[in-house]
Amino acid sequence: MAGQLDGKVAIITGGAQGIGAACVQKFVEQGARVVIADILDQAAKELTQNLGSAAYYRRTDVSKAGEMEALVDETVAHFGQLDILFSNAGVMGEPQGNFLDEDFSTFERTIAVDLLGPMLGARFAGAYMANNGGGCILTTASTSALYGGYGIVPYRAAKAGVIGMTRSLAIELGPHGIRVNTISPGPTKTAMSAAMDNVPEEQLAALMDVSMECMRGRMPLGRIGLPEDIANAAVFLASDLAAQITGIDLRIDGGETAGNVENTLAKMQAGFATALQNKQ
Ligand code: NAI
Repeated sequence: MAGQLDGKVAIITGGAQGIGAACVQKFVEQGARVVIADILDQAAKELTQNLGSAAYYRRTDVSKAGEMEALVDETVAHFGQLDILFSNAGVMGEPQGNFLDEDFSTFERTIAVDLLGPMLGARFAGAYMANNGGGCILTTASTSALYGGYGIVPYRAAKAGVIGMTRSLAIELGPHGIRVNTISPGPTKTAMSAAMDNVPEEQLAALMDVSMECMRGRMPLGRIGLPEDIANAAVFLASDLAAQITGIDLRIDGGETAGNVENTLAKMQAGFATALQNKQ
C-alpha cells in the first residue's frame, strides 16, 4: 500500500525521544526518509539503527544558526532533497519556578530552543524549498500558548510566538509553494510531561503518572494524549492530503481548549435552589 509520505525527505528536530521519536517512526512507516536532529546522541543513534537506511542522525543544537544551516545542507547532501521541516524540539524550562525569582538563563534557553530554533529552521529550510519547488514547514507549539496559567511563562510565550510566526510565514512563503502550520498538543505522555528537567530515569514513570492524573480532568475525553496521536496529525499535515492547508494551528488535545470543563451551570442551579429555599 502506498504511504502518505512516499518519496518525501523530512527533517524532524527533537526526534530522539517522545513525540519526535513517534513522528520519526510514523514518517518512515509512511514512506519518508528522515533526518533526526537532536542533541541526545545515544537515543537518536539507537532509533536510527532500528530504522535502517530510511533514517539518518545529525547532531544539531536547534538554537545555533550555523548548526541549523549545516543540518539543511547535510540533509540535501545525504538524501538529495528536502520536502518537510518538522521543528519539534522543545524545552519547558523550570515549571516549578516563580516568575519573579526565575533565572534569566531559563528565559534565554527556552526562547532560544522553542522560538529561535524554529525560526532559524524556517529561514534555512525555507530558502532551500523556495528554490526547489516548495515544501512544508511544521512546528510543534502547545496548548500552553493558548491560555495563561501558573508557571512556565517563557515556554508559553515562546510557543505563542511560534504560532504567530507561522501565520506570517504562511503568507510570505505561500507564493513559493511552501505550506506552514503548527500542531498544538495538549498534555501528552512523554518525559517532558513529568514537568521537570533532569529527572532520573528510575523516577520518571512515577512522576509522569502523577502529572498525567493532574491534567486528565481538564480534558473532556478523559484521556491523556500519546505521542502517536501527535504523529498521526503530523503525517496528515505533512502529506499532500493537506495540500490546501496553511497558516493553521491544529490542536490535538482531547478537547482541553474547547472550553471550561467545570459545569458552572449545574453549580449555579444548585446555588439558586439553596438561595430560594433560604428566602422561604
Ligand atoms: P521530550 O523532552 O521527550 O523531547 C524533546 C526533544 O527535544 C528531546 O529529544 C530533546 O533532546 C530535544 N531537544 C531539546 N533541546 C534541543 C536542542 N537545543 N536541539 C535539538 N534538540 C533538542 O518532550 P516531548 O513531550 O516529546 O516534546 C516534543 C515537543 O512537543 C516540544 O516542542 C514540546 O514543547 C511539545 N509539547 C509537548 C507536550 C507534552 O505534554 N509532552 C504538550 C505540548 C507541547
